[in-house]
Amino acid sequence: MILENRTRQYVVERVRAGVLEQGTVDLMTQVGLGERLRREGMHHDGIYLAFNGERHHIDFAELTGGRAITIYGQNEVVHDLIDARLATGRPLRFEVEDVSVDRLDSPAPVMRFRADGQAHEVTCDFIAGCDGFHGVCRPSIPSDYLRIYERIYPFAWLGILAEAAPSSNELVYSRHEHGFALFSMRSPHVTRLYLQCAIDEDLTLWPDEQIWRELRTRLGTTDGWAPNEGPILQKSITGMRSFVVEPMRYGRLFLAGDAAHIVPPTGAKGLNLAMADVYRLAAALTEFYRSGRETLLDVYSERALQRTWRAQRFSWWMTSMLHRSDSDNAFDHRRQLAELEYLVSSRAAMTSLAENYSGVAFEADE
Ligand code: PHB
Repeated sequence: MILENRTRQYVVERVRAGVLEQGTVDLMTQVGLGERLRREGMHHDGIYLAFNGERHHIDFAELTGGRAITIYGQNEVVHDLIDARLATGRPLRFEVEDVSVDRLDSPAPVMRFRADGQAHEVTCDFIAGCDGFHGVCRPSIPSDYLRIYERIYPFAWLGILAEAAPSSNELVYSRHEHGFALFSMRSPHVTRLYLQCAIDEDLTLWPDEQIWRELRTRLGTTDGWAPNEGPILQKSITGMRSFVVEPMRYGRLFLAGDAAHIVPPTGAKGLNLAMADVYRLAAALTEFYRSGRETLLDVYSERALQRTWRAQRFSWWMTSMLHRSDSDNAFDHRRQLAELEYLVSSRAAMTSLAENYSGVAFEADE
């Protein structure tokens, strides 16, 4: 049984991440949901890094022996998953209220919720806590059982979705004196753009024209490249955090995705980590129901955390290399530039970025 407290429309329309690793694409294909993704997803062989007015291409495919990424909105992934679930007739309930979980360390944990004005209680074999950073599952684990690792960054991203044809064939990550900016896309007609801003930025102080001016300043390069402009369809502010909870399991509750870990969006890892978790968890549950063995369930947390920490390191590194921080001084600015110069001039350094960004294969039972 899947419980969702929002409406179906909300989860399908809410714009979120957009970069899928090959492992995520392969998983969607493996479960029979590859068709629309293959048709509408945009295949990218690499990214651009921009600084000092120049764009530098990092060719993932060439550096990693053919690995690449696909641009396809997270909400489109969710859309496809919802359609597939509903088609099975198995329960997926939207707009449930007052969800709670209990008796997690017993063989029969329960979920309670309200729906259609009635209280419900469901006894489960297992509960998968896929309810995000603000969900109820993680706080239901006794706090002395958990260890939390966290860093909150002193900046945020102002994101827009614009009705404009993408003017670059691949993403552009830019480091600029005014702060970070990112050029991305969602379709041949829709561009997605981000600007580093203050944590408590007030969106009302950013009229459209000012957003475009700042994007032109931070992204534009001396060869004349700049994002195409068009009507702004959506604006939002996203906070930046690195967060890990250990372990990712308590009794019969298994945490997956943002319920267990958050990465800053600069490495494009959040959605892919969640997919890797559920792939691993599904394999462990399959083993349990087929054979009664709990081997994979028992290593779930440790193995998922290995991948998580690798992505944490990478996301922190991408973030700190590209953002302006108020605590940085002139030395730090030159060091950042030296890092970028090194990165785009060393095949070894570019390969490190390429293999981490494009992602390692999903594993269920290493
Ligand atoms: C996006 O397209 O929304 C996007 C792309 C790359 C990132 C973060 C977000 O690192």
